Amino acid sequence: MKLILIGCPGAGKGTQAKKLSKHFDIAHISTGDLLREQIQLKTELGKKVTNIMNSGHLVPNEIVTQLLSQRIEREDCKNGYILDGYPRNLSQAEKLSSITGEIDKVVLFEVDDNAIIERMSGRRSCPKCGHMYHIKYNPPVTFDICDECGSKLIQRKDDAEETVKNRLKVYHETTSPIVSFYDEKGLLLKVSGVGAIDEISSYLIKTLEEA
Ligand code: AP5
Repeated sequence: MKLILIGCPGAGKGTQAKKLSKHFDIAHISTGDLLREQIQLKTELGKKVTNIMNSGHLVPNEIVTQLLSQRIEREDCKNGYILDGYPRNLSQAEKLSSITGEIDKVVLFEVDDNAIIERMSGRRSCPKCGHMYHIKYNPPVTFDICDECGSKLIQRKDDAEETVKNRLKVYHETTSPIVSFYDEKGLLLKVSGVGAIDEISSYLIKTLEEA
């Protein structure tokens, strides 16, 4: 199964992708995580993208597309994968099928912009295993410590309020046109991204299994 998850920053793509990946035993590919890994490793590419990501703008297509193409070659993608954060503009969407072949479904998480600032300011993530939390909606058992691996949780730099506002602007201007691109292909599944995390994933799993 090959899935694409679309939604504004903080819509819950990463949270739901982790659950779907576990359930369907397919890889979770987050282009944001691939880029953050380059920053953490202090590679040349990482240095090039740090300021772009911290300001909430999109990284150039050729950089992200190359990272994605390399990631898809790995063994864990042979049963399929979930793309979280790619494509992000029409140009990426138009090119994608030449990299992935047929996509089975494109899930759009709908969340009002007003809910996003609160979600982002409360997000904490694990720098080691990538697990995600929210201080109110999905807290770790011990404050600031990852349940999965015991590392100290961090707050992403691009979750600062002004940057989140810019990321939302970029989403509406640049990413949302891909919604009609996939709707016209009959691939789009719209899901509310508001409500209990486990209820959203149960609904999604049931709908995808019946599709
Ligand atoms: P990326 O890492 O992809 O960030 P994003 O798309 O902005 O999405 P987020 O990861 O912030 O949010 P999410 O939807 O995954 O929400 P989450 O599940 O974490 O991209 C970062 C940057 O990388 C971009 O700005 C760009 O610079 C670059 N980039 C990446 N891909 C690119 C591409 N293809 N082209 C060009 N540039 C690219 O949830 C958020 C919070 O809410 C968490 O705390 C979570 O616990 C909580 N939460 C989740 N669900 C719920 C719920 N139902 N109720 C309450 N809280 C919830």
